[in-house]
Amino acid sequence: MTTSHPTTPNDLEAYWMPFSSNRAFKKAPRMISRAKEMHYFTPEGRPIIDAVAGLWCCNAGHQRDEIVSAIQAQAAELDFSPPFQFAHPKAFQLATRIAALAPGDLDHVFFTNSGSEAVDTALKIALAFHNIRGEGARQRLIGRERGYHGVGFGGSSVGGMVSNRNLVGGLLNGVDHLPTTYDRSKQAFTRGEPAWGAHLADELERIVALHDASTIAAVIVEPMAGSTGVLPPPKGYLERLRANSDKHCVLLIFDEVICGYGRLGFAFAAERYGVIPDMITFAKGVTSGAVPMGGVLVRSGIHDTFMRGPEHMIELFHGYTYSAHPLACAAGLAALDLYAHEDLFARARGLEEKFGDAFQALADLPNVLDIRTIGLVAAIDLAPIEGSPGLRGYRAMEHAFHETGMMLRVAGDTLVATPPLVISEAQIGEIADKFAQVVKAVA
Ligand SMILES: Cc1ncc(COP(=O)(O)O)c(C=O)c1O
Repeated sequence: MTTSHPTTPNDLEAYWMPFSSNRAFKKAPRMISRAKEMHYFTPEGRPIIDAVAGLWCCNAGHQRDEIVSAIQAQAAELDFSPPFQFAHPKAFQLATRIAALAPGDLDHVFFTNSGSEAVDTALKIALAFHNIRGEGARQRLIGRERGYHGVGFGGSSVGGMVSNRNLVGGLLNGVDHLPTTYDRSKQAFTRGEPAWGAHLADELERIVALHDASTIAAVIVEPMAGSTGVLPPPKGYLERLRANSDKHCVLLIFDEVICGYGRLGFAFAAERYGVIPDMITFAKGVTSGAVPMGGVLVRSGIHDTFMRGPEHMIELFHGYTYSAHPLACAAGLAALDLYAHEDLFARARGLEEKFGDAFQALADLPNVLDIRTIGLVAAIDLAPIEGSPGLRGYRAMEHAFHETGMMLRVAGDTLVATPPLVISEAQIGEIADKFAQVVKAVA
């Protein structure tokens, strides 16, 4: 019997798309069937320039031969080996390479399959760490308003996006939130880190005063909040958060699922800011999006705290069937090789100014309320259509795809660009021009 797999499915009903407006999509699908470097291609062969690295993940560009062959070779050699009590060599190689990229003594890597799992893993490690040290009362987790930490119950609880929280009830108990660092009246049209807002890190003191440090396990923030529309950290904010969390023995977790692997011009944002957190969560760019993978980088002191007791005992009762999957490890090693050989993190750093110029030049277009640029990231806040928040943004995404041949990302009425780090200077101009066309079209 032969089975056919048409490129264009003829029934769109069964697939319930994640984080998508399913009904609107199915009326006018934005279908992708192929990719190469900076471009996607529709099933009809129409090129779509990728202004968002897929979903902030394909940092080395699409279908890079080196990553494709590494995955092919791995699939032919070892499909799967159990990660509990057994391992394969590439898991160790990749962990060593990632630890070498990370600053300070963030020397140990716990692998997961996604950013959400990485966040929940980091939160559990924080709770378990305090327990082992005899401080089991430290149960409280602190996130931040407008933060996104994936969709697990832990990540949703510390996250600060109302739509991700309001339909699913109380989530975890004992969670509190720092205030967002964004205030348009103080920061509009900032390039890089805004000058206003470092003092907001002192809100941790207020939370400590309310709950007592002895009940607080960890604080988690994205160095640059991505999913709610790109909110770079105010100058000095992360340093102050580090000092405040140290003062109270509260662990500091940087969620670098978006910032990691070059987005801000460094392997990790921790390096850009010279601040070493206790854990870093990562995903996406670790394999340049080619195979699902995430993980948590953990400082030696925390890791070593677990390495006690009889040696035959499992030290942390946590893990996933597909942690350090061979295909993901092969893709990860090939992606890290590409990042190194093509010096892509430095490349992003070198392009930051040009990229910022190209997007900040759009400030006078209709409905533009703010533009934020940092690393290879830009966000344009558009005024919402009265009574229909998100509609202008949705129309912008549709127009970009169907009329200008570009994939962009929207967060409500904010349009976001986060291209692969291999983007050329000419392509920066091209996507900025297309953003301008789109903003005018939805005016
Ligand atoms: C900062 C941050 N954390 C966690 C996640 C969740 O990652 P995933 O979708 O791989 O579960 C994301 C996804 O965009 C993210 O941006």
